[in-house]
Formats: sequence, C-alpha cells, structure tokens
Amino acid sequence: MINRLISPEVPAFGPHLLSVVDLSPEVLTGILDTAESFLEVGHQSVKKVPVLRGKTLLNLFYESSTRTRSSFEIAAKRLSADVINISTTQSSVTKGESLIDTVRTIEALGADGVVIRHPSSGAPAFVSSRVGCHVINGGDGCHQHPTQALLDLFTIRRKLGRIGGLTVAIIGDILHSRVARSNITTLSRMGARVRLVAPPTLLPRGIEDWPVEIFHSLEKGIEGCDVVMALRLQLERAAGGFIPSVAEYARLYGLNAPLLERVAPGALVMHPGPVNRGIEISGEEEFTESSAILSQVEFGVSVRMAVLYLLMGGGPEEVLAGGAVPDKGGKE
Ligand code: CP
Repeated sequence: MINRLISPEVPAFGPHLLSVVDLSPEVLTGILDTAESFLEVGHQSVKKVPVLRGKTLLNLFYESSTRTRSSFEIAAKRLSADVINISTTQSSVTKGESLIDTVRTIEALGADGVVIRHPSSGAPAFVSSRVGCHVINGGDGCHQHPTQALLDLFTIRRKLGRIGGLTVAIIGDILHSRVARSNITTLSRMGARVRLVAPPTLLPRGIEDWPVEIFHSLEKGIEGCDVVMALRLQLERAAGGFIPSVAEYARLYGLNAPLLERVAPGALVMHPGPVNRGIEISGEEEFTESSAILSQVEFGVSVRMAVLYLLMGGGPEEVLAGGAVPDKGGKE
C-alpha cells in the first residue's frame, strides 16, 4: 500500500505552500497524482498510513473555518501526525500576543508544520520568513487559498477526466476572493479557459491583465461552460457595500436550475463553501445531479494529505522503511 503512495515523479516544491503562483503544471499534476493515491486511504477500514508518524501539525486560524481546518486535521491524522488546533479566540492572541510571537511559541513547542489562516494578505509569507517549520497558507485575506485551488483542480479532473480545454466560469465576488485568485492561476496554467462573471464593482482593478474573459451577464457567462463555480458573497469583507442590495445581487448572479440549462451537458456546479443559500445558489435539491460541492469537501482531505506528505514527509526510502520520517530541518 505505502509503496503505491509514493510519487517519485513529483518535482520538489516547498518548504512552504504560500501561493499557487510558483507551482508549475508539472508540480500541480504531481500533487494531484499523489492525492489520487491518498484517496484510497479514506476507503480503507483503518484510515491511516504511517508516513508522518512523529510529526506535529498546528492549525492556527485567525478567521473562522469549518472545511479547511477540519480537513487539514483529518488529513494529518490519516498520515499519523499529531495535530493541535489553536483557536485564536481562546489563545493568548486575545491578550495581545503578536502573530510572530504566537508562531515562535508554537515552533518552540515542537511543531513541524503550521497551517495559518489570517485576515491579512501576506501573513503566512511573513511568518515563513521568520520560522524554521513548514508554513501552509490556509487562506490569507483576499490574496490566496492554495489548497482550495488544488482541491478544485482535483475535483474537476476526477469528475470530468481532464482540465485542459475546459471552460470554467467563476461567478460573483471576485474582488474579495482568494479562492478566485488562486483558481484563475491554477486553471489557466493547466490549460482551462477561465471566465469571470460579476458586476463591475466586484471585479478588482487591473483585471484586464489577467488570463480571463469578463462577463457581466450570468446567462451569457455560463453559456456552454463545463464548470460553473459560484463564490460566496463576502459580507464580512463589506461586499454588501459594492452592490445595490443582496436581493438584487441574488436575482442577477444567483444560480438556479433553469439557468443551468445553458451550461454544457454534464457540467459541474462548484462552490468553495460556506454557501449563502438563496444568494449564490437557490436551493440544494435543484443541483443534486450536477453539484460537486460535497465532493470538493471529500477530495480536499486527500489533496491536503498530498500537500502535507510532499512538504513534511521524508523521501520514499524513509517511508518504505516504515519508521518515523527524519526531520528535514525546516529551513531547507
Ligand atoms: N472553503 C473554505 O475555505 O471553507 P472554510 O472557510 O469553511 O474553511
């Protein structure tokens, strides 16, 4: 089993995963192939392999999360790592401890890797330049959400058999979306055509330089698409101030079953979650055939196992020896 988990073809990346910008098509493919192997672990009666035995992963989340945090926790546990979750509302962050002091404390406690979610763009990169452990970006401000983009790629490839040549419409609050920024890079790098469907006020400046086609009409934007990816309207980042009203936005940019007759046959409906039901998507029962939303969650565990293994694991020899993976020293 373990033998089949090793993907020696994966080009090296790391020591951190801060952004998808530096990931070549070869690295992206290698991560997806590794995740494919790890998918099997979730179907075994004992859902564990010993590849990160003796390692400790810390989840440090300054913003709320259901999917990303629990997915990293399950992924690390399936790889036999120890996991500690720090909720900033119950930590010394509430007493004024800085981000860097918090992470240095975590490192002193013996963490080999830390997953950081932070409202400020660049916070994980800032941390990575000051600590010796592996840093994984779990979502930073409006900047990047690398593992979401990887699991989205994986879901598309699994469900449709390919990524190259597909047309993907990303719909909604592009302005505030780290998911959109990461996905635009990975999808276009893997040969997909990307459309952005949004009101002009929810598109960032400089969008004309991105490798995308822009649509303001949802009907026209999703016409013939293989994938429609709705984004959450990020009301916590004041998205409500960029639209006349939420009801108006839902009327113009909310997906519903009649609209989906315009997409390509067999097209996927995706959403990173959490869904604002009735705003981005009308009702779950309308999309049972085409919805990949829960598959995105399921596949996210395998993709995060692949990322943790490739960043924090030892080489094939150590894993095949069945022992604890030797420490890579962090600062390679
Ligand atoms: N997609 C995503 O990041 O979801 P959570 O906020 O629940 O982690």
